[in-house]
Amino acid sequence: MTSDQYAVAVPFYDLWHEDGHVPEIREKLPALVKGSVLEIGAGTGLITEVIADATDGEIFALEPSLGMRSVLLSRLAGRRELLERVTVLPYGALDVELDEPVDMIVMIAVLYSIEDRASLWATLARQLVPGGRLVFNFREREAPTPGDDAEMASYRVGRHTYELWGRTLEVEGERISARFRYVIRHGGEVISEDVVDSVTHRPSLATLVAELTEAGFTREDAPEGLLVWGLAK
Ligand SMILES: C[S@@+](CC[C@H](N)C(=O)[O-])C[C@H]1O[C@@H](n2cnc3c(N)ncnc32)[C@H](O)[C@@H]1O
Repeated sequence: MTSDQYAVAVPFYDLWHEDGHVPEIREKLPALVKGSVLEIGAGTGLITEVIADATDGEIFALEPSLGMRSVLLSRLAGRRELLERVTVLPYGALDVELDEPVDMIVMIAVLYSIEDRASLWATLARQLVPGGRLVFNFREREAPTPGDDAEMASYRVGRHTYELWGRTLEVEGERISARFRYVIRHGGEVISEDVVDSVTHRPSLATLVAELTEAGFTREDAPEGLLVWGLAK
């Protein structure tokens, strides 16, 4: 991936997601982690750290966005011991071919970014040992409705306020397009503003079950909000 639509989101990312899915994943993921791990869409490394603290195994943290990956590397550099066993893969999920298969794949808050899921499941299955597990977060939700720009979050950073605004533009089946505005204010005055349009793809659980069964996976028990899939032995 050469374009980096995540670049403008990076300064806001840890602020926002500490309020979002990350605390829940910190609580629920560690019990599922075992052995060597491929993490798809590692972002700024918030989940990479959770994985690293839950296993002594080797970790492959795949992240295509240069901006997100830069923060991930900074986070790893702050924990030198992790540099011994975390390899950062600078490309997208469909391009991964590991030297040897891993015991587990973790993919948190990434599913919706990937349109070609048939290729995704086939690629991921090739990276797992027989009987290996694929874990990702998922909740079935009503499709959003197109509407007005709304403030999603606001954070104080010293004398500045970081605001995240968003609105749904269009919904067509699984495909949802949205516009996000990343705003920094000083004393109420806007000193920085970036607008990003993004498209996500949101399958139903039934669709995922059909696709993953076809790809050789079986659904296993999982904590609420996560799905666990075992690859055939
Ligand atoms: C919402 S962030 C989640 C980051 C991290 N997993 C977390 O939970 O904090 C989504 C991440 O998926 C990455 N991503 C987008 N498309 C991808 C693809 N095709 N393959 C792998 N990662 C992708 C983005 O660059 C971004 O870092």
